[in-house]
Amino acid sequence: MHMPNDFLSFFLSWMSAPRRVGAIAPSGAALADLITREISASTGPILELGPGTGAFTYKLLKRGVRQQDLTLIEYGSDFMKILQMRFPNARVLWMDAGRLTTERLYDGAPVGAVVSGLPLLNMSTRKVVSIIGGAFSYVRPGGAFYQFTYGMSCPVPRPVLDRLGLRATLVDRAMLNVPPAAVYKLTRRPQMKLATRSPAPDDSTPVGPEPMLSRV
Ligand SMILES: C[S@@+](CC[C@H](N)C(=O)[O-])C[C@H]1O[C@@H](n2cnc3c(N)ncnc32)[C@H](O)[C@@H]1O
Repeated sequence: MHMPNDFLSFFLSWMSAPRRVGAIAPSGAALADLITREISASTGPILELGPGTGAFTYKLLKRGVRQQDLTLIEYGSDFMKILQMRFPNARVLWMDAGRLTTERLYDGAPVGAVVSGLPLLNMSTRKVVSIIGGAFSYVRPGGAFYQFTYGMSCPVPRPVLDRLGLRATLVDRAMLNVPPAAVYKLTRRPQMKLATRSPAPDDSTPVGPEPMLSRV
């Protein structure tokens, strides 16, 4: 859903900061649908990065997410007023998503999903690491980070995924979006945990604990 003047707000923001805004128009319905597809009211707290005028935020509310469960992180001051007005019960924070760990946003890690409209391809690797690593510090086990891109492959480079212990899967492509876009889902890789196996009680052979690798 777009208010008629969203295109103008977006275009003006893009004119003043093209790399930060990363798109000349808000995302369309097909992309908003795709990036929020796996999210519902039961996902719990949701962190949205770079909401702009709220194209994905509206879709999250339509899926039953409560405004109280939303934290919106936006760096563009021009978008801040729009977001505060449109989502009065959400937590709207004017901050750089690269500072997610500097600020303590949650007690513990309750977040079920991160939805990101950030233009990662315009950012340094260092910044991408601090944004994604910072976001995952709030994500609960089993939670996911959804990112869209206009590029042909995952916008998070493989070394960054390796460093953060994440894997990326393609959710799908939104060919009807202008320009066509794709959504990737980042999740934690299963950990290889070092477990120990004690000798059986009736085993008379005096062997020490034997290390064994198991997936958790
Ligand atoms: C491509 S637009 C996407 C906006 C909206 N999610 C959509 O799809 O229509 C990128 C947004 O990320 C914001 N942004 C860029 N860098 C940011 C940063 N470091 N921290 C927070 N927001 C940022 C921009 O201001 C802009 O609103």
